[in-house]
Amino acid sequence: MNIIEQIRDIKDITREQLELILTTENKESVDFLRRTAREVADAVYGNKIFMRGLVEISSHCKNDCLYCGLRRSNTTAVRYRLTDEKILECCDNGYRLGFRTFVLQGGEDPWFDDTRMCRIVSAIRGRYPDCAITLSLGERSRQSYQSLFDAGANRYLLRHETASPEHYAKLHPSEMSFQNRIDCLYTLKDIGYQVGCGFMVGSPYQTFDTLYSDLQFIRSFQPHMVGIGPFISAHDTPFANQPNGKVSYTLRLLAIIRLLHPPVLLPATTALGTLHPQGRELGIQFGANVVMPNLSPRDHRKDYSIYDNKICTGEEAAECRACTEQRIRNIGYETVVDRGDFNPNTEY
Ligand code: 5AD
Ligand code: FES
Repeated sequence: MNIIEQIRDIKDITREQLELILTTENKESVDFLRRTAREVADAVYGNKIFMRGLVEISSHCKNDCLYCGLRRSNTTAVRYRLTDEKILECCDNGYRLGFRTFVLQGGEDPWFDDTRMCRIVSAIRGRYPDCAITLSLGERSRQSYQSLFDAGANRYLLRHETASPEHYAKLHPSEMSFQNRIDCLYTLKDIGYQVGCGFMVGSPYQTFDTLYSDLQFIRSFQPHMVGIGPFISAHDTPFANQPNGKVSYTLRLLAIIRLLHPPVLLPATTALGTLHPQGRELGIQFGANVVMPNLSPRDHRKDYSIYDNKICTGEEAAECRACTEQRIRNIGYETVVDRGDFNPNTEY
């Protein structure tokens, strides 16, 4: 049997199959991978693509990840924080535009402590009982995750970045711990969040072996969401001169993740759209089923600069939403703005 059908049927992949699929130059094989992944996504979610409204609440970060433009050592990064009022205003605007999931994302900023963050989450929960609240605020304590959950948060995104401890140590300063990151993911799941992990494609020192570990981690952790996008170099970071990740690898990995874990919520990321003008559309064609237009206030957009040349920094929320919707319609898919919860019931 064809290896792609085999991967789909047994929901597993070998290290050799992974390398073969990523490196093949055979157009028919890549085409078959794309079609198979899309069939699986269609079987679970139909031709519907979920939209999430992203609000970037803080560009301050106490961490010093070597790849990230918001790392604390980057003295040229412009720092901002949104007030409670501004965050609520973004959600109001998003709600009027039809969004039913709000993603609050930020650097690890101690100013957004539990008191402040719980107050914000409760306010959103009170105003919009019909919406899902997703947080993406990095590593916090169990107690903090629990308080935020109790305040009304439903989902949490925390990319594992790499499932190889050795690779993790090359991407992060020594005070950051691989084990703590993995523990956070299990804690979040244990509390009852829908949890997203993920990694960059083409991060420095990544190998087929580390990617294989990432896929095995996803198989065992069974996340509700997986965020992947190409690594993109950021100026004034230690990796400023490292090459960007490959769009082709990112697309093929999206497809493989869809085959390994059919019900996963899989975004076509802004990073993918940054490296290719049709990156997000291609992501959907390779099995992604989520897009996250930006609802952040326009005057701060360009300052949430995780990597260089990020798209969608000049558009208003409404423009970004309309643009996303049009792009998706152009390739024959339909955007939906309901909560778009994880669907574990699948014939696959
Ligand atoms: N290129 C691409 N993605 C990046 N991230 C951080 N820095 C970069 C970069 N230079 C990703 C990380 C992080 C997420 C918020 O953004 O995976 O978890
Ligand atoms: Fe943001 Fe096109 S999706 S401007």
